[in-house]
Amino acid sequence: MLKVLLIVGARPNFMKVAPIYAEMKRLASEFAPMIVHTGQHYDAAMSDTFFDDLGMPRPDIYLGVGSASHAVQTAKIMTEFEPVVLREKPDWVVVVGDVNSTIACALVCAKLGVRVAHVEAGLRSRDRTMPEEVNRILTDAISYLLFTTSQDADENLRQQGIPAEKIRFVGNIMIDSLLEHLKIAEKSDIRERLGVSGSDYAVLTLHRPSNVDDRAIFTGIADALVAIVEKLPIIFPVHPRTRAKIIEFGIDTLPTGRVSAFGIQLIEPLGYLDFMRLYSGAKLVLTDSGGLQEETTVLGIPCLTLRHNTERPITIKMGTNILVGTDPVKIKQAAFNILDSDNSAKSANVPPLWDGKTAVRICDELLK
Ligand code: UD1
Repeated sequence: MLKVLLIVGARPNFMKVAPIYAEMKRLASEFAPMIVHTGQHYDAAMSDTFFDDLGMPRPDIYLGVGSASHAVQTAKIMTEFEPVVLREKPDWVVVVGDVNSTIACALVCAKLGVRVAHVEAGLRSRDRTMPEEVNRILTDAISYLLFTTSQDADENLRQQGIPAEKIRFVGNIMIDSLLEHLKIAEKSDIRERLGVSGSDYAVLTLHRPSNVDDRAIFTGIADALVAIVEKLPIIFPVHPRTRAKIIEFGIDTLPTGRVSAFGIQLIEPLGYLDFMRLYSGAKLVLTDSGGLQEETTVLGIPCLTLRHNTERPITIKMGTNILVGTDPVKIKQAAFNILDSDNSAKSANVPPLWDGKTAVRICDELLK
């Protein structure tokens, strides 16, 4: 029986841990999983609702760390997590993605000599100003086993000098959750509640510090949105960081009320099922998120990524993702190109092993 601590901290972690937890529960004679929540995200809309939507039990252990600077947040997670590892003596600790909780918990384990498995290893944007890139490089360097989503990630790890025997190409765990919940999400009435129908709307998400913490960049993106919304309604679930910046910068094209003068609909962050129901029907997604580039690829929805790089190049090579950067003219042009073309989705190819069976492969590997 393997005792495994599964770490979650921030919103993009929950849908990656849920299928692993479910598979471990299915293999109850082999695994004893426990969910540890660092509390990096703590708002109901950023955390609790995901447990309900994903059918995950409440965390076994909650560290309650909350928001702070990167150094303080990372240090607090480490201080709170170390006694948990000493007390629980797990055989494995599984970390996912690239948030501060990922590196903090991996580092505690590396120092205590406890085995860490990193799910979604090897992704690289090659942009070290991005906090997640630092987290990725460091987590990969100290993990015992590295589970990758695509073969370019394997190559990145080999280039970093990581021995091939530590690397396992298992596919994309987030797509396990997506495929599992697509049908269930059809019950959500979010489209009706927001007054959108057919596929005559776009969905926008924006929360990267490089976009929303910079007044000139954020204002430029808002200008592009004002032009796009003349042709297509835009629904914008707003991350707390972004909402604070809209107020601070006084971006009046994006008031914090429900619908802007320009018709952009600003709403609270959505839960997993409501959000899936919303983006899965959209004509176009505009985002700076990582996961959404992958989810739109699988569903064949055109995605404009408002960044200058992506750690997920396979979504461009095989999927529907286009990297447009943050220049308002380029964003507008790319959006209009999609709206003007009849067959807006590129013929979407689903990358290898994004098949809903990644949790099974991960558990197999841990047992080996
Ligand atoms: C974090 C991750 C990012 C991920 C994102 C998803 C890091 C370095 N970044 O960024 O990779 O894409 O989560 O959402 O780990 N806040 C709240 N309520 C919450 C959580 C945050 O109001 O529940 C506000 C706080 O003002 C906080 C700010 O959002 O200071 C930023 O939160 P933080 O966890 O530091 O980073 P994110 O921007 O959410």
